[in-house]
Amino acid sequence: MAKLDPCTLVIFGATGNLSRLKLMPALFRLEADARLPDEAKILAFGRRPWDKQQWVDEVAKMLDAKYPNGYDRGAFERFTQKLEYHQGDLDNLDSFKSLSERLQEADSFPRNLLHYMAISPSEFGSVFEKLGEVGLLKQQHGWHRVVIEKPFGYDLLSAQTLQNSLLRHAGEDQIFRIDHYLGKATVRNVLVFRFANLLLEPLWHRNYIDHVQITHSETLGIQGRAEYYDRAGALRDMLQSHLMQLLTLVAMEPPVGMDAESLRDEKVKVLKSIRPIPHNAVHAHAFRAQYAAGHVEGRAVAGYQDEADVAPDSATETYAALKLYIDNWRWKGVPFYVRTGKRLAESSSAICIRFKHPPQQLFGSKSKAEALKPNWILLGIQPNNCLKMEIQVKEHGTAMKTRVISLDASYDDKGGSGADAYEDLILDVIKGDRALFLRYDEVEWAWRVVDPILKVWSMERDFINTYPAGTWGPRGTYRLFDREDQFWRHSLSLDGSDVSSEAF
Ligand code: BG6
Repeated sequence: MAKLDPCTLVIFGATGNLSRLKLMPALFRLEADARLPDEAKILAFGRRPWDKQQWVDEVAKMLDAKYPNGYDRGAFERFTQKLEYHQGDLDNLDSFKSLSERLQEADSFPRNLLHYMAISPSEFGSVFEKLGEVGLLKQQHGWHRVVIEKPFGYDLLSAQTLQNSLLRHAGEDQIFRIDHYLGKATVRNVLVFRFANLLLEPLWHRNYIDHVQITHSETLGIQGRAEYYDRAGALRDMLQSHLMQLLTLVAMEPPVGMDAESLRDEKVKVLKSIRPIPHNAVHAHAFRAQYAAGHVEGRAVAGYQDEADVAPDSATETYAALKLYIDNWRWKGVPFYVRTGKRLAESSSAICIRFKHPPQQLFGSKSKAEALKPNWILLGIQPNNCLKMEIQVKEHGTAMKTRVISLDASYDDKGGSGADAYEDLILDVIKGDRALFLRYDEVEWAWRVVDPILKVWSMERDFINTYPAGTWGPRGTYRLFDREDQFWRHSLSLDGSDVSSEAF
């Protein structure tokens, strides 16, 4: 394995949710697996008047919470050697000047800099601006890279404004727009499934596919993130980013190669081909709702409007579903149904592809109930990585009757490291590999798709549909389907294929 450049990771928002739950644990695991460069430093930029020891204690608390059954203490001792703390205020230019001076201490900090923006999206622009002003984005000695979390902007216009302000201080090659879904091994497996197997390629087409469903459901609520979530909502939080990325992987043409530009060129072509949704068609293509009080996993939970720091009349959606059409040769006329929601019945992410019926029904009775048994391909993303195909076989006995069986090619990734998406992505930034990061045009085209919906929803603040927490979401979402025999696939097991539009 090539040796990684020594570097300093500066974490903005080091005590926030993302850092606590994902980033610091991922960095710790990289250290435990000896995958971080030996000389690496991790400098937390925070408002609290802490010294290094207080920061180390805080990191220990984060890891205790993440790994209640314990973790490698020896690795933690090594990890603490890499940790540093810098007190500063994100709104104060002087804090950035002192940060810059401190980073000049060449003996203490490697000159390659990775600035990680684990902060609120509304702060990206101003922090970037300050980094630029104090010269922390100039690549005179070593590389200087910035990792920006999603959402990149708040809508199309703000994304364009943010991009313009970033380009005043840095080149596109310094900006790493992270979408942690692309770091998930199971998501990358979609590419392998499609492009390492010729078997399915001829079928991956409007002639054979009836529709595609992409679902991300969570039983969790907003987990104390109201300040961010109430401004964002499900469409910005999950759909414009993670789920749109999944859609591009399912729909893209084979890339010329697996390098960053070839991959991203193909993803952009998909996004550009998505049929624009005019304002007057938003309700036919999009459905939003908010969770009301209910029961999740046997426990009573509050409704969204009763969550801490959420306005009692908030109309922010915690559930969003879209119907999209990709107007290109492969997909014209095939609906892509995409949905996400918090406080739903189960936590899972999956891609479900339903095939058309054969042109003639040769077996079994012609009754409607028996006819409706199409083939499905099911790709489970999480919690289990699985691949299933539902096909028809002949029933036992003399009659030529059929039944559906599931070919289950699921496998347990026992040889896998169990690594979280963030680990690989952090290493990619250090290597300078941008294949799994979003290019600006991808983000902009994704905003173009959802922008009309955001505009219409933002004008309709007086009413929002609700669904009881712990269910599969609002009933009204079924109006998105093109035909009566289409329905949400909630489960990847066989009985999931028989869910009718009445079932919730
Ligand atoms: C984040 C969203 O980007 O992704 C969260 O902000 C969401 O609201 C999370 O819960 C889901 O990620 P994962 O990896 O748990 O599926």
